[in-house]
Amino acid sequence: MTTVTLVQGDITRQSADAVVNAANSSLLGGGGVDGAIHRRGGPAILAECRALRASRYGRGLPTGQAVATTAGELDARWVIHTVGPVFSPTEDRSALLASCYRESLRVAGELGARTVAFPAISTGVYRWPMEDAARIAVGTVRAARTTAVEEVRFVLFDERAYAAFAAQPR
Ligand code: APR
Repeated sequence: MTTVTLVQGDITRQSADAVVNAANSSLLGGGGVDGAIHRRGGPAILAECRALRASRYGRGLPTGQAVATTAGELDARWVIHTVGPVFSPTEDRSALLASCYRESLRVAGELGARTVAFPAISTGVYRWPMEDAARIAVGTVRAARTTAVEEVRFVLFDERAYAAFAAQPR
């Protein structure tokens, strides 16, 4: 049974078996969580991302999918990169956001990861409203409780994000 916990802080300072990255489809880095993970995790992560682009993901990682690499210098064994949807006021992309959490948990289970740290995917550069993103995130993790993952830890960067996730039934 997966327990769901919340912490406020920097995901790159978490100790977990797997840390989930809010990546973009290029897998070649960016700002926000992506920038922080590559900065603190070091070049080994990017090297593996480049190898993935040269092989399985020649056209990039599609939105809603997830793939694992080494965690480099982070206090984790793996980084699971997932690409969130950019928020759209006209098109409901909720299923793609849910897929990020579901696919990351599937990959984590396949790896044998017991603890998985998630950021609030799509709520930064990709502009997804925090409350709705929290509803989708916690709801998806609760529905996927049968995975081998023992702890899902949402790592929220600020009080507003923390409050939005804390307001969700767990
Ligand atoms: N630890 C935890 N959460 C963080 C951190 C951090 N070090 N840095 C940022 N956040 C929070 C943001 O405040 C936001 O709530 O993570 C959430 C996701 O924000 P982004 O990192 O901007 O991710 P996203 O909205 O999914 O956009 C992805 O941004 O950085 C680029 O390369 C990335 O193109 C991709 C896009």
